[in-house]
Parts: sequence; structure tokens; C-alpha cells
Amino acid sequence: AGRSAVLRREAVVTTVPFALAALLAAAGPAAAATAGAPGAGDPYFPLEGNGGYHVVHYGLTLRYDPKTRHLDGRAVLTARATQRLSRFDLDLTGMKVSGVSVDHVKAAFRRDGQELVVTPPTVLRDGRDFRVTVTYDGTPKPVTDPDGSQDGWIPTDDGAFVAGEPQGAMTWFPANGHPTDKSSYDFTLTVPKGRTAVANGVLLGRTTSGGTATYRWRQSEPMAAYLATATVGTFEVEQYTTRGGVRVYNAVDPREAAAAAPVLKKLPSVLDWESGLFGPYPFRAAGAIVDHAPSVGYALETQTRPLYDSAPDVSTLVHESAHQWFGDSVSLTRWKDIWLNEGFATYAEWLYSEQHGGDSAQKSFDALYARPAGDALWAYPPGDPGGGAHLFGAPVYARGAMVLHELRKAVGDRIFHRILRTWATTHRDGHGTTDGFTALAERESGRNLDGLFRTWLFTKGKPDRA
Ligand code: ARG
Ligand code: ZN
Repeated sequence: AGRSAVLRREAVVTTVPFALAALLAAAGPAAAATAGAPGAGDPYFPLEGNGGYHVVHYGLTLRYDPKTRHLDGRAVLTARATQRLSRFDLDLTGMKVSGVSVDHVKAAFRRDGQELVVTPPTVLRDGRDFRVTVTYDGTPKPVTDPDGSQDGWIPTDDGAFVAGEPQGAMTWFPANGHPTDKSSYDFTLTVPKGRTAVANGVLLGRTTSGGTATYRWRQSEPMAAYLATATVGTFEVEQYTTRGGVRVYNAVDPREAAAAAPVLKKLPSVLDWESGLFGPYPFRAAGAIVDHAPSVGYALETQTRPLYDSAPDVSTLVHESAHQWFGDSVSLTRWKDIWLNEGFATYAEWLYSEQHGGDSAQKSFDALYARPAGDALWAYPPGDPGGGAHLFGAPVYARGAMVLHELRKAVGDRIFHRILRTWATTHRDGHGTTDGFTALAERESGRNLDGLFRTWLFTKGKPDRA
């Protein structure tokens, strides 16, 4: 039905009969050639993201009832075609879609696994701005990742823990869900009175009506879909503005409050310390969501406002804060380069410890290097984890940090710090690749670092002592 609708539109403007015949003859392949790709082309998650358009802005209006676990959603995406587009996909799994429109005109759609396939009423020319509205509802469920962990909309006893790395955004909103596509976001979140709904960025306002409370959040700087959150719970809230003008909003589950308080008190000083190393803090908002979600088993660097499944220790706070530069502001271009996020955030922990009376980075390195050749740490190289199941393993985090320590020893502290800072500032609100990083390291140091990166980043097994 979608294809013939497209044809009919084009036929209207094609008045020369033989041109019409040619168009009809070419309809099949031509329509296929202008369909947006179902994925962004990342071998780790082939269907994540979509081809043919860029989402400039998401407007998400959600209503969640923790009791029934029912989510009502309306997503308005402001997008731009990056090719001639007869059809395009969004990522969405579960949920019931009740309507899709493109530029306020009803559009045909179908579901195909995690793809929501939309046929706009007219073919969109390359470069055209368009608006997609999707209304949907249902009981969102998390996805199970290749490593067995869950992400996405994860119900808790008083709300939901909402974390999307690496593929959970599609469990709660229709997305162009690969980190190559970054967008601004507005959230309007309605929950029962007494619950708090926390998203990314700045709180614009809170209103109540009847038995509900509505929270409006704005994330202005570009954000990858996996870093979006709309976490719901019973939270104690703290708000303040730092001396540098950053708006801080902390939401803490009362069961975690006593343990979280002394750690969250350090947030401004941790962000200052990291700004000193990595360059200006990239966002206008900051904070933390400390949930009580024992089944989750990890924290996530949700943009501006990391999400913890329980009260973090200082190291974890430093780690998720470092991700605001490495992972959030500077995004991955492909999941294979995940060490650019996790190795860097882990090395930030080592540096923090070294400069705050704890173990030196060398000591952290040595303790790891002492592990035998058969240890899981050496199972695969950080620069080539080999698939989605290995994204969050020790070779990415710990050995990823070891790569940076080796680099630091090779080029010296001054140049090492210049490399980190230049990386964060030149790719701010953008993307990076492993090749881009190694090239930068060579440029800044004036050295050929092939051997170092080959050994530490790309070679399987325990490297020999240099
Ligand atoms: N990036 C997070 C962190 O290390 C970990 C996310 C893990 N996600 C998952 N589905 N297991 O800060
Ligand atoms: Zn991390």
C-alpha cells in the first residue's frame, strides 16, 4: 500500500505518458533505492539506528503509571532527510503504535521486529526537513543484551530505571538509536503525585493536576539516544547551581540517601577536577539519579545526570562523571571503539585516586599486569572486542585504561594531558574514532606510536613488558 501511495503522488506531477510508463517500470527498484536503511551499519548491532535521515530534536511526552506499568507516549521527531526518502525506519520494540504522521499527514506504517517502518505520504527530497509524530502505548519491557544484562525501561518497585546502553532506547521511544545520530530533547513526563520523573538536562518546570505531577526537562546539547533517561521513582530531590553556573539536580531514593549523601557532596569538586584535566564541562546541567534497583547491576552515564542502581562510591561517581566528556560529549562512531568510553572513564578513576591520596595509576596498572596470562583480562584486545557480548568486559575497562597508562609513560605527563584535553575539546558535542585518537596522540607527541597501540590496543593476550 505504501509503495502505490508513493507512485500515485509522483504520477500526479508526471503528465507525459511515456515518462509515467518508465516510472511505473522502475517503481520496484526505484522505491527500494530510496528506502532508508534499517540500521546505521554497525556490525555489533546491525539494526540499531536507521539510514536516510538525521533527528534534530525529539519531543517526548510520556505518562507512566508504576502500578499498572502502563506507558502512554507521543514522540514528535524533527528530522532532516539525508537522501531522497520514500520510506524510513525508526527503532521501536514492544509497545503498540496507534498512529504515525509525517508533517501532520497520516502515514502508513508497519512493524518488523525492532523496526517501525514508515511510508510518508509523499517522497521526501534529500535535505528536506520533516516532522514525524508517533503515538504509542503499552507495557515497556527491557531488552536483554548479548552479555545477558538488561537495558531500556526496567520497572522497579516504585517506578522505572531507564537506561539505554547499548540498545534500550527503542524500548520506550521511537528512535534513530545509534550513537552516530545526536539530537536535542524535550521531555514532558507525567507520573502519579508523590513520584518524581527525572530526565536529562535542565528542569523547566513541574506542575500538578488532580493526582498527577508533570515534569518538563530540556536537554539542549546533542545527545545519543542511549543516554536519554526518564527514570521514575520516589525520590528526595536536591537542586543548586554551581559557582560555574551549572544547574545541578540530584534525585535519590530514600533507601540509598544516607550512603549517597557524602558521595554526591563531592560532585561539584569532581566536575571541577575533571574540567581542569579534560577542558570545560560540556553541559549546562549536571546531577545524579540514585535509584534503588538491585536487579540492574550497573550504572549509566545518562547525559548530564548519571543513573546509579544504588548509592555509588566516589570512584563510580568519578567514572560516570568522566563519561560526560568521554562517551557523552565525544560520542562513539561505532561500538567497536567502546574503549574510548570505558577505558577513559576507568583511567579517570585511576588519576583521581592518584591525586587524592589513593593508589597511583602505576600501582593500579601493576596490580592488573600481575594477573596471569590466562586471566579474563587478556581474553580479547580493547580495540577489537569482537562483538556486543564483550562491550562491558574487563579488557575494555581495565585494559583500556592500561592503554592510556602506557601512552602516558611513553609521551610524558604534560603531552599526555594535552592529548586528553585536545581530544575532548576538538570533538565536543561530536564523535570520535580509535584511529582519530591514535592519530591525535602521534600528532601531539610527534612520535610514531604504532607499536604501542598495536601491542596494547589490538593484540590479543597479555603483552610482554616493554
Ligand atoms: N557505560 C556504563 C558504565 O560503565 C555501563 C553500561 C552497561 N550496560 C549494560 N547493558 N550492561 O558506566
Ligand atoms: Zn563506564
